[in-house]
Formats: sequence, C-alpha cells, structure tokens
Amino acid sequence: MTTAGHPGSFPATRLRRLRRHAWLRRAVAETSLAPADLIWPIFVHDHEAAVPVASMPGVERLPVEGVLRVADEAVRLGIPALAVFPVVDPALKRDDGGHALDPDNLACRAVRAVRSRFGDAIGLICDVALDPYTTHGHDGLLADGRILNDETVAVLRRQAVVLAAAGCDVVAPSDMMDGRVAAIRESLEAAGLVDVCILSYAAKYASAFYGPFRDALGSAAALGSAVQRGVADKQTYQMDPANSDEALREVALDLTEGADMVMVKPAGTALDIIQRVKATFAAPTFAYQVSGEYAMLQAAAGNGWLDGEQAAFESLLVIKRAGADGILTYFAPAVARRLAVRG
Ligand code: PBG
Repeated sequence: MTTAGHPGSFPATRLRRLRRHAWLRRAVAETSLAPADLIWPIFVHDHEAAVPVASMPGVERLPVEGVLRVADEAVRLGIPALAVFPVVDPALKRDDGGHALDPDNLACRAVRAVRSRFGDAIGLICDVALDPYTTHGHDGLLADGRILNDETVAVLRRQAVVLAAAGCDVVAPSDMMDGRVAAIRESLEAAGLVDVCILSYAAKYASAFYGPFRDALGSAAALGSAVQRGVADKQTYQMDPANSDEALREVALDLTEGADMVMVKPAGTALDIIQRVKATFAAPTFAYQVSGEYAMLQAAAGNGWLDGEQAAFESLLVIKRAGADGILTYFAPAVARRLAVRG
C-alpha cells in the first residue's frame, strides 16, 4: 500500500523512479521492436521506371529490377521477408481473374527473380486473392451481383500452387472466402509443396483504410466499375468492424484448416483483436499496418503536424505490445534503418 498524500509521510512506490534515465527506461521496457519483427510490403509493376504511389508518400511501384534492390536492402537491414503485390496491367485483367494462374505472371516472375538471386536469405510472402487480376476489383468471382464462395476457392487453391511453385515460401490468402485455407492446404500437399506455409488473413475487416492500397494496384477504379454490377464494396466477405468474437471464430477455423500463422488487419484499429487472438490461440500472430494507416501518418508528418519518425515507431511498438509477433508495414525500411543506427 502506498501512503501517497498522507501528511508527514512519503509515497513508498514512486513509479517515476524507473523513468528517470534513458538506460533505465530501456532496461525495464516490456516491449521492443527489432528488424526481425517487420515485413516489408512492396508493389511490383511491369514498367522500367519506379512510379510513386501518390497516396502513400515514400512508396513506389517497382520494376522487377527494383524489387531485387529492395530485397538486397532488406537482407542488409535484417528484415526477414517481403510481401509482394503485383500491379497488373489492366489489359490482362479479366472477369475471372484468370491471369492469376499464369506461371509467368508478374508476381511469379518477381518471386523467381528474388529467389534465384538471394536463395533462402529472404522470405517471400504472396497474397492469394483475385483482386489484382479481376476487372471488377473483387477478391473473388462475381456473378449475378454476388461473390461466389466455392467457385472462388477452386481458383484460389490453384493460384496458391502456382505461387508456391514459383518459389514463394508463404502463401497468404487475403480473400476471406470460407474454407479456402483447407482447400489451399490440400492442393499444396497434393502438389508435394508440403513445406510451404500458409499465413491466413484470418481476421480481415472491411475497412476504409485499404484505400491507398487499392490506388496503388489500380483496383479502386475497378471496384468503382463493380457498382453497376451490384457489389461495390467487400462487406459480404470481409468482416464487420463491429465484431470481435467473430474474429476468434475466423482464426479458430483457419488454424484448424491448416494455417501456420494468422493475421489481423488492419492493425491500429484492431489492437483489441490482436490481443484476444494471441491470448486465445498462442499461435504466430501477425498484424498488417495497412496503407491507410501509413498514409495518415505520412500526411500528418508531411504537414509538420507530428514527428513522423517518432509516430511511426510508436504505432508499431504498440502493435507489438498488443501481441503481434510480426508486422507488415510500409515503414519497415525506415524503422529498420533507424534501429540500425540507434539500436
Ligand atoms: C486484397 C488485399 C488488400 C490489402 C492486402 N490484400 C485490399 C483489400 O482487401 O481490398 C490491403 C493492404 C493495405 O491496405 O495496405 N486482397
């Protein structure tokens, strides 16, 4: 019991004692951030030059050559893996997203290029979903104003095998169809790709914070065109931000179906979910600090309204504190560089 406030006495517990010096604060810190906690999402496109993403200052769509430079930097910084997102030429988009199954598509070419240059020195994570490839921008097949579940899963399991065969270490279904993890696991086993990991976007919310990502991919315009076809948003397959128990049910299913790791997304607006998932399942739990979270911080920093470097670091530290084992973040290189200088 403390006696703070009693006349003639003193507080026995002064929590400020442990805050007095930087070394002491570091010594008692419960959470820390290391480059090994960060996964670097990158956009690759089929042009020779890098093209900035307007809504994500500091992020560019890179040619495959640029991806190799990024991989080299990631290895030097100690970032364990890249998450590769292809910006697909609109001429290659189809209603059925068929180009996702082409073993020579951009995602596969980028994976092969990094794998042949860097071997196992860096991990490669690829999204399994159809949105980069569909004319309507949805993650699944669209018919009669609905996103078809089982028909989509039949394509996704093939997409996962195509990516894994190209050399992707971790396939990451981000589509939120029911039953896709079991189907992908079955197809990977059947193809003899038994060591390929599944990182499922298990608790993925229908979020306004994906806006800049959809700009980067060009799927925002495509989704706009889906309005006429009756499904303008992703709320019939991504989760309602109102829900928390449902996130646990999603994670439970994905782990049962064969996911090695699970993800919560977005991160900053779902810290409570990260905590519940980690506490309930004690499984490798990742969080995605998404494009909109990055854009908000960069916009405020760019205007001089907050210290961007500090704010980015803090935003990631608290995602770790909530229970994430790793974080997909566009700040990965900046934060890893800062850690390399200051430790
Ligand atoms: C698509 C996908 C999305 C993101 C990752 N994979 C967007 C969406 O679901 O519309 C978002 C990532 C980000 O915003 O940074 N399956």
